[in-house]
Amino acid sequence: MGKKQEEQAALPLPRHLGIIMDGNGRWAKKRGLPRSAGHKAGANNFRAITRYCSSIGIEFLTVYAFSTENWKRPADEVGALMKLFKQYLEEALRDFMEENIRVRFLGDLSAFTPDLQELIARVERESAPKTGMVLNIAMNYGGRAEIVHAVRGLAEEISAGRLSPAEIGEAEIASRLYTAGQPDPDLIIRPSGEHRVSNFLLWQSAYAEYVVMDILWPDFKPADLDRALRDYSNRNRRFGGV
Ligand code: FPP
Repeated sequence: MGKKQEEQAALPLPRHLGIIMDGNGRWAKKRGLPRSAGHKAGANNFRAITRYCSSIGIEFLTVYAFSTENWKRPADEVGALMKLFKQYLEEALRDFMEENIRVRFLGDLSAFTPDLQELIARVERESAPKTGMVLNIAMNYGGRAEIVHAVRGLAEEISAGRLSPAEIGEAEIASRLYTAGQPDPDLIIRPSGEHRVSNFLLWQSAYAEYVVMDILWPDFKPADLDRALRDYSNRNRRFGGV
C-alpha cells in the first residue's frame, strides 16, 4: 500500500453512502450525443463505482437510478433507461454476485413492466445470501412517496385495531420505509454541481453529510469518491448536540 492509500484507509468511512447519479444528460450534450448515450455511460460508471465502494469496505451503498418524477421525461428517454436497467441488471447480477454484493431495490416497483419486475425479483432473491456490501438501487423512488407508503401501512394497522396512534414513533415509521433495518446514510454525494436534495432519502438523511461535486456522473472516478470521503472525514458530526 502506498502512503496515500494508507492515509485513505485510516480515515473513518461512512457506513452508508448515498449517491445521486446526476449529469448524464449534460455529459451527452457536451459531446453532441443523445441523452441515452449519457445514461449508458452513467450505467457503466455505476458498475465501476459500485465495485470500488465494495472494495474499500462501504457497508451500504444507495444509488438513485430513477425517481418518481423521471416518468415525465420524453417517452424515448424513459424507454432507453428501461432498456438499460434490464441490460445492466443482468450484467450486474453476474459481477456483483462474484463480489459478494447483496442487491435491494427501493421504490414502488409495481410501475415497471412484468419482465423488469421479474428480473428485479430474481436479482434480490439470488443475491439475498450474499454477505458483503448491500447495494440499494432506488428505482421509481421518491422520498415523499416512501413516507406516504409507510404512513398508509400504519393507518391500515390502526384501522385493523392492531396499533394505536400513541404507539407511533420514529421507529415505527422507519421500520416501514424501504430501507427498514439499515443504518441511515452518513454521506450523500451529488455530482453534477446541483445543490438539491431531489426527493432522495428524505427521512433517512436527517443527519447525513452532503458533498456536492462539480463533475458529471459519467466522469466521476474512484479518485473523486476518495476526495469526497476525505471531505467527509473532516466533518464534525454533532447530530443536533454540541
Ligand atoms: C440523472 O441525470 C440520471 C438519471 C435520471 C438516470 C440514472 C441512471 C443510470 C446512471 C443508469 C443506472 C443503471 C442501473 C442498472 C441502476 P440527468 O439525465 O438528469 O442529467 P442532466 O441533469 O445532465 O440532464
